[in-house]
Amino acid sequence: MNDVPPPRWATEHFWKKTAIWVTAGSFLLLILLTFDTLSQVAAGGSRVPAYSVINQTIDYRYDESSHRYRPVIGGESPLFGQPLNETEAENLVALGKKTVQAKNCVNCHTLLGNGAYYAPDLTKAWLDPGWVDAANRENLMLAFLKDPPGNARSFGSGRRMPQLGITDAEARGIVAFLKWMSAIDTNGFPHQFKTLNNVDS
Ligand code: HEC
Repeated sequence: MNDVPPPRWATEHFWKKTAIWVTAGSFLLLILLTFDTLSQVAAGGSRVPAYSVINQTIDYRYDESSHRYRPVIGGESPLFGQPLNETEAENLVALGKKTVQAKNCVNCHTLLGNGAYYAPDLTKAWLDPGWVDAANRENLMLAFLKDPPGNARSFGSGRRMPQLGITDAEARGIVAFLKWMSAIDTNGFPHQFKTLNNVDS
């Protein structure tokens, strides 16, 4: 047998080195992507609005230039008629989010697509045409959350949301949380969602 050394690419040494470089490279890429994502998902960033967005009108329309549905933030429209500063708005939205977690709404609903499929996705619930009257929507939502069976809508599905013992303050928080969430740029999710204002054909 003659002793021809294997080509460089076929040596164990070469593949060990390659594995180390690929692992180190991927690790660096992950760190970079993590920081890139953090800036995108932080409230007040390019995709997730600041909490005080609940002081404004929100809609969701098809954008010709990006070929997808995007939130449209408009003029003044304070929630429950009361403009809030950034901290007050953040506290109210936080109360709503904590209540949604405490009452485990994702047992039936999805939020941003995550959760269960028994009841409607809540990402754009604020803009749901089912509220019918945009001017009175927050009060209708408040009444619904505090007493879902007494204000059942169910849209022919026959499914009913149970009484969850939500207080007035918690319900106001949830309305703020849902309004804020509807202003998040979700890359066009849910697709072709027609809003209460229904400006699209
Ligand atoms: C046991 C299942 C269940 C749980 C838990 C539940 N829901 Fe519901 N929810 C429903 C059903 C069913 C409907 C649709 C029936 C209706 O609108 O009357 C609904 C409707 C809604 C709507 C109206 C949706 C729209 O698009 O207009 C909102 C808002 C809502 N729920 C919020 C919540 C919140 C917030 C929680 C947690 C605090 C919660 N739900 C927990 C079953 C549930």
